[in-house]
Amino acid sequence: MTERSVDSDLVIVGGGGAGLRAAIAAAEADPGLRIALLSKVVPMRSHTVAAEGGAAGVARADDSLAGHFTDTVAGGDWLCDQDVVERFVAACPEEMVRLEQWGCPWSRQADGRPQVRFFGGMTTQRSWYAADKTGFHLLHTLFQTTLRYPGIERYDEYYCADLLVDDGEACGVLALEIASGEPVRFSAPAVILATGGAGRAYGQNTNAGIVTGEGMAMAYAHGVPLRDMEFVQWHPTTLPGSGILITEGCRGEGGVLTNREGRRYLQDYGLGPPEPWPRPKAMELGPRDWLSQAFWREDQAGRTVPTAQGAAVQLDLRQLGEARILERLPLITDVARRFAGVDPLHAPIPVRPAVHYTMGGIPTDAEGAAPLAGLFAAGECASTGIHGANRLGSNSLAELLVFGRAAGEAAARRAREAGRRRHARAAAQLAEAAARPALAMLRNERGERVAALRDALHATMERHVGIFRNQAGLEQACADLAELRERYRRGVRLDDRSRIYNTEWLSALELGHTLQVAEAMACSARARLESRGAHRRDDAYSERDDERFLVHTLAHARGEAAPALEHAPVTITRAAPQRRAYGAAAEAAGGEGA
Ligand code: FUM
Repeated sequence: MTERSVDSDLVIVGGGGAGLRAAIAAAEADPGLRIALLSKVVPMRSHTVAAEGGAAGVARADDSLAGHFTDTVAGGDWLCDQDVVERFVAACPEEMVRLEQWGCPWSRQADGRPQVRFFGGMTTQRSWYAADKTGFHLLHTLFQTTLRYPGIERYDEYYCADLLVDDGEACGVLALEIASGEPVRFSAPAVILATGGAGRAYGQNTNAGIVTGEGMAMAYAHGVPLRDMEFVQWHPTTLPGSGILITEGCRGEGGVLTNREGRRYLQDYGLGPPEPWPRPKAMELGPRDWLSQAFWREDQAGRTVPTAQGAAVQLDLRQLGEARILERLPLITDVARRFAGVDPLHAPIPVRPAVHYTMGGIPTDAEGAAPLAGLFAAGECASTGIHGANRLGSNSLAELLVFGRAAGEAAARRAREAGRRRHARAAAQLAEAAARPALAMLRNERGERVAALRDALHATMERHVGIFRNQAGLEQACADLAELRERYRRGVRLDDRSRIYNTEWLSALELGHTLQVAEAMACSARARLESRGAHRRDDAYSERDDERFLVHTLAHARGEAAPALEHAPVTITRAAPQRRAYGAAAEAAGGEGA
């Protein structure tokens, strides 16, 4: 059944920023390694390309690693592992310079030095950017750099269906070549998952259609717990209906948010007072969890603006002036004109929150190693511990560079030590069984439509596992998800039974993974009886409870049953938990204030 096979030293699943950075690091560490880089799309179509506003890294003389550390930990509502944050912030600047050397066209100051901009929750200008196409340029730079290394062999448009695990060690993956539908076995002593997040568990999101949680689900199914899955980020400014991202860079440049009454309403949510540019303090540059929660409350109070695609608030860029908008935000200008019918030079853009990022994922150490020998994870599918309960904008592009590199180097070490042969034998034995469920799906005579199950998934996640949650809703979501998983198990019926470029088949396989990840999200949220960061309740648990819940959640898969949950400690090194404060409130408490 799986006649085709590729025996490598390292398999990387995912051709986005994290996967490419890992491949480069591994190839640099040992040019003799054979590295198989799998991607379900051509790498330049990976979701990293959609990142817009910036990548964090201390650059200015008046900034410091301590500042980046403190902002990140406070932004994460003290759920960050501080030892990893320390390593992260220290490594970011070098990664930005590395990209520069590889050709990334960072936006520049008049004297030629790279320019940095404000971002939400960051107390100073720290986000390196390339206009508002940072992800595009970053991905392009990494992609062209991989081409220098003959050891990196690309397998574009290969869908990874399962991880191969032998005797407690990852030994490869089973993939489907999308063009032929043929199963292909990839074996290696080290596997890096760099498959991105799971934003497509929700209907309203900023994510590409490919962001369906495969890597998380595959690791989870093989005994790796998923960590902190209850923390899902809503980006506060996206286009209603389509969910297209309207970068935080707009607010970093001085854009303001107003409600139906024309009021800069964020001053009513502990983020004010409004202060004139160029020294903004919080307000529109508050953290994403607070801004999304403020939108929700404005909507409940009837102060949002109705649009044909739902409620919105207004993002006004006009005070920036035409020259600055066109220089710094050309993509947003184009997107607003094409997809919202609004010219931001002359009118505000209607925006609302949509799901953007999964803070949780596959737990890793600072080298990207997951708790399964031979398995590594990097980028959004990983939970390194740096984001806590709420990621700060621009920390994710930096993360995929820092931890993509770390994972690549660590996996290369393992590959060298372990050798190829034994794993190839084990993978060969496992691949056939791994391919069976995917192939069987093509023969189902009965079953439900993928779209019906996916719509039901989106409905329950949007309704019950949203910006605000409560116990009754979360109970309902867990019950709905158990039922949806059961319906999926009973069978999905495809109209297209061919193997060649069968996108219906791929959607069905993706859905199985997303359902598993969504259940981990809902069940982890149900068990966190407090409010912290992006996990915000409007029931009896509306406050943070450090005594009981300053802990990570670990969700363990239990086959058809709901996940088993346990807690794990958070590493605190030098910043004891405090009440979060932004703007004037932070200054009153003696801090700088974002
Ligand atoms: O708004 C943005 O440009 C998004 C950036 C991020 O999620 O880091």
